[in-house]
Amino acid sequence: MANPSDYIAIFDSGVGGISVLKQLVKQLPNERFLYFGDSANAPYGTRPAKEIQQLCIHVAEKLIAQGIKALVVACNTATAAAVELLRQRYSDLIIVGIEPAIKLAADTYPGGRVGVMATPVTLQEEKFRLLAQRCADRCSIVTLSAPGLADLVEAGKGNSEESEALIRALLEPWVGKLDAVVLGCTHYPFVTKTLKKVLGDTPLLDGSLGTAQETRRQLERRGLLHEGPGEIIIQNSSLDPSLLRLSWELLEE
Ligand code: DGL
Repeated sequence: MANPSDYIAIFDSGVGGISVLKQLVKQLPNERFLYFGDSANAPYGTRPAKEIQQLCIHVAEKLIAQGIKALVVACNTATAAAVELLRQRYSDLIIVGIEPAIKLAADTYPGGRVGVMATPVTLQEEKFRLLAQRCADRCSIVTLSAPGLADLVEAGKGNSEESEALIRALLEPWVGKLDAVVLGCTHYPFVTKTLKKVLGDTPLLDGSLGTAQETRRQLERRGLLHEGPGEIIIQNSSLDPSLLRLSWELLEE
């Protein structure tokens, strides 16, 4: 590593946050990125909130010990369960979370019916309830809990027959009845091909652009933008080397 405090750390329960890293690299090509996937502990989305908080603190400590200037929580589940706690503990650090892009959906399709696909934890948390409440006068929301889908992406089976069966069971009753579908889990952009096969041309929205723009704004405000050259480091808690390989493949996909 060069000057360690130049790094923007990004983490997720596994490989899903690579979809956010992709957007960050597009928006901030001169930055140094340190990505951490906690695949040894994935999925987060079906765990009790307390456990997710402990896992997030553990990951944050690991990343902070490497010297970072910002932490991007590239996981809707971790953001819902733990971002406030992380902000309290590390109050000097820039911490940016991600949440389901309901506001974007409400602005783009006012009066529309919006499906929100996410993990059970994201949909159960207070943060989601408040977000949905804020948009309730501008669109109607259908929650679509998708346990198991992130696991398939972790296993490199994002666009497999198995994922198609899961997606069909969840979405077929809604085909043609939604104005947009929000991908409220950072793993889901990696099943886009299958989602399109089932949903046809229903627009798919996610929060990665908003998160990357917010990261840029916060760095700019503190005069912490890096002037290049850019760099990407990927780490993973799993000892299985296929997770690192999959991470790079998804980044280049
Ligand atoms: N990628 C995570 C999210 O954005 C969820 C995956 C998991 O359940 O671990 O919610």
